[in-house]
Amino acid sequence: MHSVRVHDKNFELYLPESQILARVQAMAEQINADYQGEDVLLLPILNGAYIFAADLIRSLEFQPSLQFVKISTYGDSMTSSRQVRDSFGLNKLKVKDRHVLIIEDIIDTGFTSGYLRAYLTQQAPASVKVATCLYKPDAFKGKTKPEYVGFEIPDFFVIGYGLDYAQKGRELRGIYKPEEKNE
Ligand code: HPA
Ligand code: MG
Repeated sequence: MHSVRVHDKNFELYLPESQILARVQAMAEQINADYQGEDVLLLPILNGAYIFAADLIRSLEFQPSLQFVKISTYGDSMTSSRQVRDSFGLNKLKVKDRHVLIIEDIIDTGFTSGYLRAYLTQQAPASVKVATCLYKPDAFKGKTKPEYVGFEIPDFFVIGYGLDYAQKGRELRGIYKPEEKNE
């Protein structure tokens, strides 16, 4: 029960939809309190953040601006040789004197959010913060931790709620982890 096969691997339910939605609601309440009355630009990172962003944004009680952003990286994530190959949406942004909130599905090494923070900070925003559904502290190699975290998880590979395994599994309502026995 509650297990799925995606490509060559079996996954089992780790966080059920009800638990995710309750946590997203609590994050939204914190964000509502922190950004009340401010001019806020939300930047959900494609592809993975689209479902988390949709749920979070619909629980906000202010009127944010929204721009989806995509950043493709290449290179070894285990070393500092990782590079940005391509981006989408970044050059259109008007961030000066605005509060920017980056919305991520998951932060593990922190490369993408670290790159974005540095890129945006050059353009003198009022603030830059990160809200992520999932955070793997054991994998994190960045300088600044995410300000809003849904769930801290161990360093295993998860799918569902927007997250993919080789482009499959994003539609799953819960979040799944690899089954112990996997053949
Ligand atoms: N699952 C899916 N995509 C990811 C993960 C993960 O655990 N970490 C970074 N990208
Ligand atoms: Mg992926």
